[in-house]
Amino acid sequence: MALCIRVPKEKGEEVRDTLISSGLLDRGFKIRSDGDSILIPVISSGFGGYDTIDADLELAERRETDYRNLADIPDVLREMLPTSYDVIGDIAVIKLSDDLLPYASAVGNALLKASSSLRAAMTDGGVKGDMRLREVTMIAGTGTSETRHKEFGVTMIVDPAKAYFNPRLSTERMRIASLVRGGEIIIDMFAGVAPFPLVIAKHSEPSAIYAIDVNKDAVGMMERNIRLNKLTGIIPICGDAGILISDLPPADRIIMNLPQAADLFLHAALTNIRSGGTIHLHKIMERSTSSEMISKLIEDMNGKGHRIRADRIAELKTYSPTMSVYVIDIVRS
Ligand SMILES: C[S@@+](CC[C@H](N)C(=O)[O-])C[C@H]1O[C@@H](n2cnc3c(N)ncnc32)[C@H](O)[C@@H]1O
Repeated sequence: MALCIRVPKEKGEEVRDTLISSGLLDRGFKIRSDGDSILIPVISSGFGGYDTIDADLELAERRETDYRNLADIPDVLREMLPTSYDVIGDIAVIKLSDDLLPYASAVGNALLKASSSLRAAMTDGGVKGDMRLREVTMIAGTGTSETRHKEFGVTMIVDPAKAYFNPRLSTERMRIASLVRGGEIIIDMFAGVAPFPLVIAKHSEPSAIYAIDVNKDAVGMMERNIRLNKLTGIIPICGDAGILISDLPPADRIIMNLPQAADLFLHAALTNIRSGGTIHLHKIMERSTSSEMISKLIEDMNGKGHRIRADRIAELKTYSPTMSVYVIDIVRS
């Protein structure tokens, strides 16, 4: 027997939605119709003026959503399975240790079983080279490595095998979009498939965003993404940002998301930013010495004739046991 409320059929959907949003729907039982009414299982008595009754309701099937309990692998390896993984569009991207690699397809199948929104799963062998390409291998599912990823009202064509993309930076992208004032000129020096420009163009009103990347596959996806989202004002450019930036108009804001090497391009960026403009510099640093590294970076730039200050420093993600990726908002006086 289950505790439930009897609701007229025409009110059923509305009441069910309200119960879900207030956390009062009892998901252990199935909703059942009874004549002109439906019986909705609830976890508390008396809801919205409906009397609570006891009724015979079927038990709901509980779907296992933790892939670790579904993976067909030796039990000794189960606790080595990662607790988290990335989801890019309808593809799960997971890092597996050497011990787990022989069971990669079993892990992939478990991921697909645990989440009905996934089409495929891939292993992540790390990011390599100047283009920061991820070494990915399909381990389960169907189709290609290209997918469509949604973020803050923008749909992005992404192929993790051909261009860098990190779904974990979505909050940072929205933060930058919220800082942009109308009419700004923005340069994204290392734009990839253009997630920063797309989210900014969708939520703010800059006059132009120059989106540069050296990877022609990334620029190809960037162009498709601009068309797909019907956004204007983003100008895709393929080539070396360190050289090309000097051909662009002085910017109000420059995004430098190349955490391994962006500081090598800082002088070029500072040469092309207006007074009062901001640079969002991504940088990998040892957590214990990050403050000293930033002071040294600012000293070096001031030595080259740039008057700058670090306005805000935030840790974006862990990179290794001792290092993190930071974003430093640098303002030019
Ligand atoms: C870490 S990824 C960031 C991509 C993108 N901003 C994102 O959030 O997904 C860095 C990008 O910089 C590009 N890149 C590396 N060196 C470059 C250079 N000298 N000029 C322009 N792009 C470069 C790579 O191809 C890569 O797409």
